[in-house]
Amino acid sequence: MEITLIKKISAEKDKEVLIKGWLANKRSSGSIHFLTLRDGTGFLQAIAGKNDVSEEVFKIIDGLGQESSVEVKGLIKDEPRAPGGYELQIKEFKVISAAADFPIQKKKDGNHGMQFLMDRRHLWLRSKKQWATMRLRSEIIWALSKFFQEEDFVKFDGPMFTGNEVEGGSTLFEVEYFGKKAYLTQSSQLYGEAGAMALNKVYTFGPTFRAEKSKTRRHLTEFWMLEPEVAFYDWKDNIALQERMIHYVIRHCMDYCSAELEILGRDIKKLENGLKPFLWIHHKDATKELKKAGLDIDERADLGADEEAFLTNMHDEFIVLHHMPQEIKAFYMQPDLEEGDKRVLCNDLLAPEGIGEIIGGSQRIHDLNLLEQRIKEFGLDPNVFEWYLDLRKYGSVPHAGFGLGLERLVRYIGGIKHIRTTIPFARMINRLTP
Ligand code: 4AD
Repeated sequence: MEITLIKKISAEKDKEVLIKGWLANKRSSGSIHFLTLRDGTGFLQAIAGKNDVSEEVFKIIDGLGQESSVEVKGLIKDEPRAPGGYELQIKEFKVISAAADFPIQKKKDGNHGMQFLMDRRHLWLRSKKQWATMRLRSEIIWALSKFFQEEDFVKFDGPMFTGNEVEGGSTLFEVEYFGKKAYLTQSSQLYGEAGAMALNKVYTFGPTFRAEKSKTRRHLTEFWMLEPEVAFYDWKDNIALQERMIHYVIRHCMDYCSAELEILGRDIKKLENGLKPFLWIHHKDATKELKKAGLDIDERADLGADEEAFLTNMHDEFIVLHHMPQEIKAFYMQPDLEEGDKRVLCNDLLAPEGIGEIIGGSQRIHDLNLLEQRIKEFGLDPNVFEWYLDLRKYGSVPHAGFGLGLERLVRYIGGIKHIRTTIPFARMINRLTP
């Protein structure tokens, strides 16, 4: 008999099925066992009545621990009271591997602490919310891949070992590389720029490393970044691309992840605000708005997490924060010569509901002399950037791109409190296991 996946159970009404999975939960009322089975694709209520199964099976179920793996045969019936609307009436029941004392059992007196759960992340991933989060993450990655394919992009990846710093020396992870110094990549952008000159529209997607010393709800030391780079795009084209991409992904999740979003308790009305046109705010105006609201803020500083949260709580839609002061931004950003006070053609994209920055992007300097000058001003070693400067020597063109932090997007779409549960195994300053 073929295995039926729980997510496809609605097609099996009144039919006999074979399910292979795990015992997620169990309660009994003397003559009936109510089980929750999970097979990784979904959760299903199953019942074993004393009169419907053999005495032996009834007894086995009685003593079976949470997360035992099982093989179950039975009849699928409509059951409006069961989650999902179906129920399995058990006929045959086999234990593949019995488990006892699963560490993450429902507690009568409150919840498990976060440290306890994160220490058992390898097991915690089986619980409903974590399961829904991983499915949502996978669906978001799929939506992003589809979006870029449909927009004629080529997937083009950068190396993880690199000699180049991109986003400042303070968050570099240094590794020994056959007697030389190398870094784990902070961003594939520079390689993406080489890709855009070869292939026009490219995107890279992979792990990214930052030695973030701060403990926050939005920082990991290893996160996944998606970085598109497009030849002949200016900073405004770049923002329009961000808007199309974000709207596409939110719509996709609304269409295909409603069950996961429900498990996560996501307020869909609020998520719909993400489909509104982006609100553009010049950095100068943002600092003014925040000052007016009573915040003590330096006009030429980057907005911190609290300021971003404040600003995004003042508006419903995504905020494009643009034209940041040159001195707080990376060396490669194109200055806007029309702005008198040294600003660059860049933008951060701030997600609503206090989430804040999920994207950083800019138009890149395409003039060789200017780029050389900026590398010097930043005190960077020009030799390391020789290959990057070649891109400006041989057919340089204006171009732009951005980096999207995947986990921050998952956090926003899922309405998830802390970034640590948006990735299977979070890496943070104080966490390297499991
Ligand atoms: O603003 P960032 O530093 O931009 C870059 O790295 C550019 N080189 C990208 C590009 O233009 N191709 O980072 C981009 C995004 C942030 O907006 C954030 O979403 C995410 O990467 N990010 C992090 N996510 C989780 N943990 C961290 N420590 C992160 N640092 C950045």
